[in-house]
Amino acid sequence: MNPDPVDPYLILVPPLTPQHPASSMRIRYLASSPWDHRVDLLALLVFQQEVEGSDGLDAEIMELDRRLDGLVRRAVEEGDFRGREEERLDFFLPGDGPRRAVVLGGGDADEADGELLRRLAGRAVRAAESRRLTGVTFVIPGPERLTDGLTEDRAVQAAAEGLGLAAWDFRELKATPEDLGAAPPPLVEEGWIHLSGDQSTDLGPDAVAAAGAVVAGQNLARDLQWRPGNVATPEHLAGVARQLAADHGLVVRILGPAEMEEEGMGALLSVAKGSDEEPRLIVLEYRGGSEDEAPLALVGKGLTFDAGGISIKPAKGMEDMKYDMSGGAAVLGAMKTLAMLELPVNVVGVVPSSENLLNGSANKPGDVVRSRAGKTVEIINTDAEGRLILCDALSWVVDHHSPRAVVDCATLTGSCVIALGHHAAAVMGTDETLVEELRAAGDRAGERCWPLPLWKAYRKQLESPVADLKNVGGRPAGSITAGWFLAEFVEDTPWAHLDIAGTAYGTEELPYQRKGGFGFPTRLLVEWVRSRAERSAS
Ligand code: BES
Ligand code: MN
Ligand code: ZN
Repeated sequence: MNPDPVDPYLILVPPLTPQHPASSMRIRYLASSPWDHRVDLLALLVFQQEVEGSDGLDAEIMELDRRLDGLVRRAVEEGDFRGREEERLDFFLPGDGPRRAVVLGGGDADEADGELLRRLAGRAVRAAESRRLTGVTFVIPGPERLTDGLTEDRAVQAAAEGLGLAAWDFRELKATPEDLGAAPPPLVEEGWIHLSGDQSTDLGPDAVAAAGAVVAGQNLARDLQWRPGNVATPEHLAGVARQLAADHGLVVRILGPAEMEEEGMGALLSVAKGSDEEPRLIVLEYRGGSEDEAPLALVGKGLTFDAGGISIKPAKGMEDMKYDMSGGAAVLGAMKTLAMLELPVNVVGVVPSSENLLNGSANKPGDVVRSRAGKTVEIINTDAEGRLILCDALSWVVDHHSPRAVVDCATLTGSCVIALGHHAAAVMGTDETLVEELRAAGDRAGERCWPLPLWKAYRKQLESPVADLKNVGGRPAGSITAGWFLAEFVEDTPWAHLDIAGTAYGTEELPYQRKGGFGFPTRLLVEWVRSRAERSAS
């Protein structure tokens, strides 16, 4: 039986009622001159090459310098400002236009891609926050100053994403932030994007709207990541999916334990039985394409708290395992974005969700379980639970939706963090083209991934004396053997897997992020689907 769809969200969260809603910055395209627009803060960029004199100064910077009687040039001449990325100059402005200006170092102009604009827009928001200002106009330098291949609409979209992502914060569980030391700065509520010198503004509003969709999806993913295990339970995620369906006209289906039994999802159920919280398999369908077109499938690990099970994790840092549902959060976020973008494509999002705890019914090392696909699995380590919940979700979506391609994302292995650190997810799969599509989409979206080889030779490490497969392949190449495990459950469907253990959350802060959940890889998934939709349209 599906649980009662009425307000599951509030019923399950009685002790923690949101007090402070997350920000939703209003972002607009400014078609008129930024000098005529009253706003708290005007942010302008200067690249190193402009300071060094090899490139002339941007028209808007010249205007700022004129209004300040040469103070910008003076800062450059006195060596206070060299155009490096972390540098910033603050000014008050006379007149009825912007009240203040901030000049941000743009760094190397040869690297002025979308991700740089995203970061710099984030810096503009942080500059506003540090002065408790709530409105920003961000001016993008003229196209001749950006790298080749970055179109104007891409530039506007990336900058607007940077504003909207930077302006988000997770404050909903703080009852009285004012009492907890220094009051946090107010969130920046108004964002404007202007293309320097450009008057052909017809593409600006569309690019800003696209950014708004990305920001809404990625900030939803971050909210879900941040919510602790006692709030963001599997049923909570299911409730969020029902709400998304209601808001955006998606088809939702939630499987509980009874339906999972019928489906024979012995691997997923074996993880869930170690906890009092029921598992959910969350399915959201966006149907923007033609009726007969097979969908793309996005699958995300929704493990709402990973204690490791009987193979329990050490206490230190275990609280971070609330982020073990990051893949599921990004899939839900991406579904929201895709629906808002109204892309002409069919997409099915699947989130297997469970806790991994330990009680008298929990999996034990040595146990053998039967997966939905019929393959038996010897559980060597109960902490390798992600692949157990994912394998049943993968086989379910392959059988029920016959997707054109499947991409899963999961905080799957600590080994991935050792391999690539915090700057790229790992990508691997059964289809070289798909892997390359994802790598390229990640580059464009500023959420990078890098391939690991799924060579046959690694498969041996999963051989079990008692079952068809073991759930761990030993320490060598831990991310690859985890990938191999998943590959066993997708039949011939083109499939790729993103291991996001090092990139989904952390302390390594980009200017548009905050420490905690990053919403990664929402943008990557959206960009990949968008590229697929464009390809089938042309
Ligand atoms: N959720 C963890 C992986 C993880 C580790 C994510 C660190 C983020 C940061 C996963 O369920 C896990 O515990 N994996 C084990 C697998 C091992 C037992 C084969 C790991 O990586 O240690
Ligand atoms: Mn684990
Ligand atoms: Zn896990």
